[in-house]
Amino acid sequence: MNVLDAIRLRRSINFFDASKKITEEKIRELIEIANLSPSSFNLQPWKVIVVTDSEKKRVLRKCALDQPKVEEASAVLIIIADPMSVEENIDSVLNSWQELGYIKQEMRGVYKDMAAKLYGGPQDLKRKLFAVKNTALFAMTLMIAAKELGLDTHPMDGFDEECIKKEFNIPEDKIIPMLVAVGYLREGVNLLPRAWRRDYKEFVKINSY
Ligand SMILES: Cc1cc2nc3c(=O)[nH]c(=O)nc-3n(C[C@H](O)[C@H](O)[C@H](O)COP(=O)(O)O)c2cc1C
Repeated sequence: MNVLDAIRLRRSINFFDASKKITEEKIRELIEIANLSPSSFNLQPWKVIVVTDSEKKRVLRKCALDQPKVEEASAVLIIIADPMSVEENIDSVLNSWQELGYIKQEMRGVYKDMAAKLYGGPQDLKRKLFAVKNTALFAMTLMIAAKELGLDTHPMDGFDEECIKKEFNIPEDKIIPMLVAVGYLREGVNLLPRAWRRDYKEFVKINSY
């Protein structure tokens, strides 16, 4: 499947085949592909909890407005945006850039200062926006890649974030932009046609707002 077809064919699926399991290798392949997504300064501020255990899915469903797809999908990914990834990953980013010849040793300080300036301190709103925007790109790549791997998905933000944090031991400073249900469409289900999208002219302006 080419990328354009994967984008055109991706739909948010409500009817997963609950009897189908997903292998750990397949989930890993999917997540590793999504991990190639671009990110600000290559800081990769995403983390993922893969929920496949049926009892855990039941708990997650309770936190997610009782949406049946949370239990029916083969796996549900809790997509986490980590504002602390600047501190956590900056040295790895710079080491890699230095080793690969992108930058010289003496530029490390300049780049570190630049990252601190661009993304603010750990509590700043711009730090949270940094984490969430990059993690959303990761999630989107994952949903497109899933189509190629024969999987369907459903992103969800209908949930109680505090409930998920409590039940899944996620530290308070992390953000959960969405859950992504991953699995297989139930046999015999015909999806309704894709719903309304705005016309190009409604949201695209040329050269000025
Ligand atoms: C961040 C995000 C959160 C969403 N949350 C939910 C949700 O909690 N429950 C749900 O049924 N659909 C949810 N959706 C699915 C949207 O309703 C769906 O993407 C939209 O209607 C377009 O349909 P399509 O994805 O099939 O093109 C969410 C989508 C996104 C991108």
